[in-house]
Amino acid sequence: MDLWTGWQAYLTDFHERRPGITEAVLGRATREGRTGYDWLLEAVSTTGDRPVLDLACGSAPLEPALRELGYLGVDASAAELARARAHGASGLLRADAARLPLRSASCGAVVCSMGLQILTPLPDVLREAARVLVPTGKLIALLPDHGPLRGADALWLAGLMAALGRPLTYPNDSLLRRRRLPQLLHAAGLELTEDQCRRFGYRPRSAVEAEVFLDSLYIPGLTSRRHRAAKRWLHAAVRAHAALPVPLRRITAVRAAPAD
Ligand SMILES: C[S@@+](CC[C@H](N)C(=O)[O-])C[C@H]1O[C@@H](n2cnc3c(N)ncnc32)[C@H](O)[C@@H]1O
Repeated sequence: MDLWTGWQAYLTDFHERRPGITEAVLGRATREGRTGYDWLLEAVSTTGDRPVLDLACGSAPLEPALRELGYLGVDASAAELARARAHGASGLLRADAARLPLRSASCGAVVCSMGLQILTPLPDVLREAARVLVPTGKLIALLPDHGPLRGADALWLAGLMAALGRPLTYPNDSLLRRRRLPQLLHAAGLELTEDQCRRFGYRPRSAVEAEVFLDSLYIPGLTSRRHRAAKRWLHAAVRAHAALPVPLRRITAVRAAPAD
């Protein structure tokens, strides 16, 4: 049995038990005072891109910034959507990203924060994103990366991986490799226009915040012994006032216009 057998059931259970956990970390992981969400939003045009579909929206951290453009959030988790509603979001829909209940060419832009690495099957998800986009509409996605790193980042990551007994991986890692991505997008009807990475930092101020960081990671099959070891390592980061690295990648692609 490989690591990804039962992946969708793992994801469902993970988000039912921990709604809002991605937002709890990414909303506090900053670079020069700005979060990865801010970075993603910088690529959304404030004119024309409407409505904006937020694919795998989770607790809908992007909703307040996109409300004016007409916000549509789609997620598979009832608990994440309930959290989003409790925080005042509307325009939410429970659905599978690979089978969107939306008309073709009905969205001006599609954003996806921390979803493309985990949504399967990824080729179907990208085809759906392209289908609902208007011609020349943009897909803007944020996803985890391995770098850039700085200072003591490699030490904190190495200690965490040693405690967990494995690197952090996702089911779509291989498909999303830089040399494969243009072809994958092209096959879905999208053309890559930008692929950048930046380092953000999450500085846990307490043991609880350190544990939130750990619990936000997808680690199927983690034993309680390894979980305890990782917790101890992250508590050391609190004592050292360290900022844990959160390297992010931003991808922008445009829906190809139909041939004349
Ligand atoms: C890492 S979270 C990202 C949440 C949010 N976009 C953010 O950045 O805070 C991934 C989200 O994908 C959702 N998800 C997982 N599988 C899905 C699927 N097949 N279709 C739609 N959403 C899915 C989860 O419920 C979860 O809310």
